Amino acid sequence: MITDAMFSIPRSDGGDFVSITFDGTVLQVPAGITVAAALLVGGVRDFRASIVGAVPRAPYCMMGVCFECLVEIDGVPARQSCLIPVSDGMVVRRQIGAAHLDDLSFGDEP
Ligand code: FES
Repeated sequence: MITDAMFSIPRSDGGDFVSITFDGTVLQVPAGITVAAALLVGGVRDFRASIVGAVPRAPYCMMGVCFECLVEIDGVPARQSCLIPVSDGMVVRRQIGAAHLDDLSFGDEP
């Protein structure tokens, strides 16, 4: 769900912006901020649905501790959006329930 922005980042500094997509909606966000910050600035309040009960969840700690901010980023599920900086063209999707282990990528592991 995207709502009116509660958070904002001053745009008077002339800094660079990047485009990201959240569930099909394109957001112009400042470069260098995290995905979680970008989504909050973009008005997103519902980052994922909990495993039990499909309750809407959103970031809480913003420092990698609570795991409430999990989203799918560029096809990889269960990413902590508060720890990952935005990049131009990034595709972010709401995570519904648990990520399937088959969908997880661990780099070059066999
Ligand atoms: S908001 Fe707590 S881990 Fe990301």
